[in-house]
Amino acid sequence: MAPADALAQTARRLCASSRRAYQHPFGVIDWPEALERPQWFTSPELVSLHATPAWEVLGDDERQELSFWEAVNFYSLNIHGEKALMEGLARRLHRPGLEEVTEYLHHFLDEENKHSIWFGTFCRRYAGRIYPDRTLSFPRDHVPGEDDVLFFAQVAIFEELVDRYNSAMGRDGRLAPVARQINANHHLEETRHLVFGRHVVEHLWSRHRPGWSDETVEGVRLHLAGYLASTWRAYYNPDAYRDAGLAEPHALARRAWEHPATIDHRRRLSSTALGWLGDLGVLDVGAVDLGGPR
Ligand SMILES: [Fe+2]
Ligand SMILES: [Fe+2]
Repeated sequence: MAPADALAQTARRLCASSRRAYQHPFGVIDWPEALERPQWFTSPELVSLHATPAWEVLGDDERQELSFWEAVNFYSLNIHGEKALMEGLARRLHRPGLEEVTEYLHHFLDEENKHSIWFGTFCRRYAGRIYPDRTLSFPRDHVPGEDDVLFFAQVAIFEELVDRYNSAMGRDGRLAPVARQINANHHLEETRHLVFGRHVVEHLWSRHRPGWSDETVEGVRLHLAGYLASTWRAYYNPDAYRDAGLAEPHALARRAWEHPATIDHRRRLSSTALGWLGDLGVLDVGAVDLGGPR
């Protein structure tokens, strides 16, 4: 089957699945009037300070309080990621060269909008804030095809990492029900996006890569490596540490990022979630600077 036909077939299959599993955004999560605290809102093993000295000195209540603000940070970074994602999807509706996936892009956009409603409701209702976006973007001059490859590869990187957290926390019985439901429902819908992400990146890469110079390919790889590192940085947010009552939040974020346990966590999770990008020749995740010696 020609690559374009294979992508169209995947898109049709995912459209059918999106319609079967269609959810009304306001009937899915049970929102309590107020949240009892402290309790777990992020699995302790996924709190950014876990296994560092700063975690070891915290008592149970302090760890659970931090897990609430880490959830606010995780949901905030999802909101920012989904906002950029929705903008990019909307720009690509009915674009020449992407006709075979336009129908699916409508579902994708619809589902991301629902997710942002869930994440935003939690942050506003229970924390009264959404943390600002701290990720950096580096504009590039684009040759034909580069813009689409970068967009869908970034989306895939973002969603694959988030989904590792969602799928673990959606099954974690220690979590407050509202946090478990948000993670579980997000994971449920993201499974389709991940399938689409892998197919569309493979399709666009094989279509455009042969026409690119080595310099362009190198530029794309550097850009994606920077994006992956900057995405991970957002998981270590001084604002969340400050709200959890921890001292010297900026120094804490720096020390947590540099600790061998967190470096190992980022490397392991990245290589499991994104090894397929290496198989395609798009990005060698093992060579990306995620802290510590490479
Ligand atoms: Fe999402
Ligand atoms: Fe998604």
